[in-house]
Amino acid sequence: MHINNKNLPKKILSWYDNNKRRLPWRVGQNSKKKQYYRILSEFMLQQTQVKTVIPYFKSFVNKVPNLKALSKSNEKKILKLWEGLGYYSRAKNLHRTSKILVKKYDSQIPDSFEKLKELPGIGDYTANILLALIYNRPRIGIDGNVKRVLLRLFNLETKDPSNLFKTKRNGDLAEALMEFGAIICKPKDPLCYKCLLKKNCLYYKSES
Ligand code: ADE
Repeated sequence: MHINNKNLPKKILSWYDNNKRRLPWRVGQNSKKKQYYRILSEFMLQQTQVKTVIPYFKSFVNKVPNLKALSKSNEKKILKLWEGLGYYSRAKNLHRTSKILVKKYDSQIPDSFEKLKELPGIGDYTANILLALIYNRPRIGIDGNVKRVLLRLFNLETKDPSNLFKTKRNGDLAEALMEFGAIICKPKDPLCYKCLLKKNCLYYKSES
């Protein structure tokens, strides 16, 4: 597959470094805290927008501060903290997944697409984004935003989001693509005038 992507990682990462939102699940180096924050936020972000998730995430980690605590909580408590976010099967699946992680994986998120996909509530998107964010694997999570960005830029539809782009910062790139789709390459009225990628963008060329 040929896509014109040589400078994309550099450009989109530089945009991201200067424009990224401060989100409470964006915490430093790999650690238990990072793993917990990332799996919790990605479950909450399935089907739900960032701005809706923020207050739920904050109060959740206040009451249930780590994976072990989650695995030991009763389901009623978890559902109570999820109340209002919707899609409650996510909360039940996350709870079941936390128990498996503690029991079977020594409280670590596995570094394998196949093993991740066996966990309740983890599909292709969540498996890929966790591999990118936690283990810096060359994957991207193709959510609605990223799907639109790739379609507009390259007219690209893909189900295999590994090794599309060359960079050392795979986790940041995966997150940058989502952020870019949410802020610049919006579904309606994209901010092409601000976009560093417009020169090579098929959508921009077709519109101008
Ligand atoms: N949507 C899903 N995960 C996200 C993340 N980590 N940052 C921004 N938007 C997201």
